[in-house]
Amino acid sequence: MYVCICNALTDYEIGLVSKQGARTVDAAYAALGSKVCCGQCRCTAQDIIDENAQSAAQPMLMAAE
Ligand code: FES
Repeated sequence: MYVCICNALTDYEIGLVSKQGARTVDAAYAALGSKVCCGQCRCTAQDIIDENAQSAAQPMLMAAE
């Protein structure tokens, strides 16, 4: 699904770079060679980043237990 129309970025691409360490919209878009233009996608993109950050952190939390 396209999240950012200005840059033609999908939820898959944003999720991928967030799994690789991008924790902000600006960092994720920079990793994809883009930057925020109109900002309409910012909340949705941050939600995707947060979801992927949580799922990436869970194995580490379980390993620490
Ligand atoms: S829709 Fe993403 S910057 Fe405009």
